[in-house]
Amino acid sequence: MSEFASQAKTSRIVAEPSLQPESVEAEALVVFATEGGIGAGAVAQVDAAVGGVIARLAAAGEISGKACECVSILAPAGIAAGHLLVVGLGKREELDQGVLYRAAATAAKTLAARKRGTVAFLSDGSWSTRQIEHAVAGATVGMVGQDLYRKEKKRTAFGTTIWLAAPADAVERGCHLGDGINLTRRLVNLAPEDMYPQAFAEEASAVAGHLGIDIEVWDETRLAKENCGALLAVSRGSSRPPRLVMMRYRGPGRRDGKPEIAFVGKGVTFDSGGLSLKPADSMMGMKCDMAGAATMLGTIATIAALKLPVDVVAAMGLVENMTGPAAYKVGDVLTARNGVTIEVHNTDAEGRLVLADTLDVVRGLEPARIIDAATLTGACMVALGHDVAGLFTNDQASCDQLVTAAQSAGEPVWQMPMFRHYDSQVESDVADIKNVGDGRWGGAITAAKFLERFVGDTPWTHIDIAGPAFADKPKPWSDGGGTGVMVRSLVELVRGHPEENT
Ligand code: BES
Ligand code: MN
Ligand code: ZN
Repeated sequence: MSEFASQAKTSRIVAEPSLQPESVEAEALVVFATEGGIGAGAVAQVDAAVGGVIARLAAAGEISGKACECVSILAPAGIAAGHLLVVGLGKREELDQGVLYRAAATAAKTLAARKRGTVAFLSDGSWSTRQIEHAVAGATVGMVGQDLYRKEKKRTAFGTTIWLAAPADAVERGCHLGDGINLTRRLVNLAPEDMYPQAFAEEASAVAGHLGIDIEVWDETRLAKENCGALLAVSRGSSRPPRLVMMRYRGPGRRDGKPEIAFVGKGVTFDSGGLSLKPADSMMGMKCDMAGAATMLGTIATIAALKLPVDVVAAMGLVENMTGPAAYKVGDVLTARNGVTIEVHNTDAEGRLVLADTLDVVRGLEPARIIDAATLTGACMVALGHDVAGLFTNDQASCDQLVTAAQSAGEPVWQMPMFRHYDSQVESDVADIKNVGDGRWGGAITAAKFLERFVGDTPWTHIDIAGPAFADKPKPWSDGGGTGVMVRSLVELVRGHPEENT
């Protein structure tokens, strides 16, 4: 049974749209409040039941409603739950899917610090269906930590999660989204010794089997037959053979035709840097270098679980970048699947080599557009910091759509320039191109410029998630580790505007 499936079972999540918050038999009841918004909506209903305690605490300044603030009221009179948690949402006018996702995750993370039977969350009548879904997703994500190998868990998923005053179908969709994000996070959080190319491919097969997604896995023999010389070169220094996983989901009414979107993910299950070895400090955390692949697996799994009416592909290039005796060398010239020759200047610029062949493989399917996600460059983190993904495109219109989707999901992204004058930076004296720019300046852009050579005229957007894919430090809504960033944005992109589609 797929872990995707067993994860969904960690907490039984149910909707009780008509159950009253005061009578729900739960260990804890979570209510949400905006700044200065205690007087209306669901929180006011609960406040009336508990005799105005919330309003008194707000008047005393103990409850501010600031985003992600959590105030516990223990053993309140007037409601069946023994623990009332009031969670802040910030300013009413700033409330969006991201705010709700993070606030619900913060509440879930706080309560999951110890074992709990049933926890109830109270939705508010003013939230849109899409906002409810993101709150449910946040609660699903917040109760799962990165403590995969700890005997004494820091987080324990609730036995049962009950959503009150929320439509059952929205709760179900929110669970699917949360499960998709948790799948991505778990794969990133697994130790590289457990999450190598074959292991990833097996996980993907299990997910595909569970959700009815078509899957094809290319092993090293097939990759050689397909002339994937760039991807294969990177994998040569490792005892772990490479894989390329391709998944195709065709939704209702989408039996014929070409994929609307091809998702491509960088899946370097560990990046030592190869012979251009990383210093010890930079190598820590490099288990996260398959986050792009995990993002695309989480995304297509969510799309399939939601049964969205689309035709999409997800392709993941999976290798381990190591220093074994057969490792590829600086000065080597590789021939990529599309025939382009690449001079290797730095074996630590391996992600673009893996993507080069993976991008070319999906081009063969003639998708309407390509979106790739990759923990590609430290330079992108220098430019944008830890929390913002960089966007790079050859097609402004499709990039704009992704920006809109990310804004709607409340995930920060920022488009970087792709001016023509950068093109000469990836030229080589020996081969068609080289795998680094001239020096380190503009390194995120020169990496994107390299990728651009492999997408032809297909509309393409590259997302550099080196910053936001992995958190070294905890946040109020997460224990750190894999974040599952961009899954919500990509699913939002596929779903389109809330009025067009659900
Ligand atoms: N996987 C790294 C990028 C990275 C850095 C991801 C930090 C997450 C956190 C990538 O393969 C890499 O090593 N890039 C080099 C490129 C350079 C050699 C041109 C870099 O950014 O230094
Ligand atoms: Mn590298
Ligand atoms: Zn890398």
